[in-house]
Amino acid sequence: MTNAGQEREALPELIFGTYGLPEGSGTTTAVAEALRAGFRAFDCAYSYGNDFYVGRALKASGLAREDFFVTNKVWKTFRGKEKTVEVCKKSLKLMKLSHFDLYLVHWPCPATEDGWQEINLDTWAGMEALLAEGCVRRIGVSNFQPHHLKALTEGGAGTKPAVNQIECHPGFVQEEIVAYCQNAGIALQGWRPFGKKAAAPEDPLIRSIAAQYDATPAQICIAYVRAKGLTPVCRSKTPERMRENFAALSLALSAEDVARIDAMEETYASGYDADNNPPAD
Ligand SMILES: NC(=O)c1ccc[n+]([C@@H]2O[C@H](COP(=O)([O-])OP(=O)(O)OC[C@H]3O[C@@H](n4cnc5c(N)ncnc54)[C@H](OP(=O)(O)O)[C@@H]3O)[C@@H](O)[C@H]2O)c1
Repeated sequence: MTNAGQEREALPELIFGTYGLPEGSGTTTAVAEALRAGFRAFDCAYSYGNDFYVGRALKASGLAREDFFVTNKVWKTFRGKEKTVEVCKKSLKLMKLSHFDLYLVHWPCPATEDGWQEINLDTWAGMEALLAEGCVRRIGVSNFQPHHLKALTEGGAGTKPAVNQIECHPGFVQEEIVAYCQNAGIALQGWRPFGKKAAAPEDPLIRSIAAQYDATPAQICIAYVRAKGLTPVCRSKTPERMRENFAALSLALSAEDVARIDAMEETYASGYDADNNPPAD
């Protein structure tokens, strides 16, 4: 697999998540606030149902297209080459954009399903077609485990995924897939950096480390995900928290503090398993 045809410029260092924002024009308001707070990268997905409202905020910002970065994703009900191409173009239209900077396969076809390798390869063929057509600048995956990635390679996929976006936060790092991607030269993004129900910033260890750095617990979560080598994808509808989260970019944890967080028991995970318990439709 090669990187041929994919944009090589640096990927963003921090991304604003758009899943679960207030609906309708509430999404537009939140994205406009996130832009004011400094965010220039936005994580979207057709399944979030808000492409139109995110796109409206980006357009209204007056920013040049090269000054912001948009990720979108193909949901599992659109697997296969044709539907993948179709839904990406639908999202582009809704967002009034000519291309996405990154397009991801939202979830792999579970390895418990008959013919899962071929289904993932067929979806990937759609991703490659979008890249060739110029609809997207990079293609990648989300929630893929090593066996899903190996099956793409072994199945003869030509283009290497540029990114794998996975759940990552204090209490849940998924070391195996992180190491796999780092060895394979696949960049990593970490979704839900505050853990399930935003519980990680409440953790006593995270709070005590925050006090040491004169930072907030949420900033420690963001800095931790970055220290593990992943780009955090974080969401808030609250302007003050957006600024707080953006400011975490200048925070670096010591190796000792990263190790203390590494030593936490597994906790705050969303409980999704790409093969056995992926989120419902
Ligand atoms: N690829 C995938 O399968 C996948 C799955 C899930 C999520 N994602 C992406 O990842 C993004 C982030 O995940 P998420 O939205 O589930 O969770 P998250 O960003 O970890 O947490 C969002 C929650 O944290 C709160 N929060 C934000 N900043 C805070 C701060 N500074 N202090 C305390 N609480 C804070 C927010 O509250 P307020 O809004 O009230 O401020 C909200 O309740 C999503 O929006 C989506 O783009 C991708």
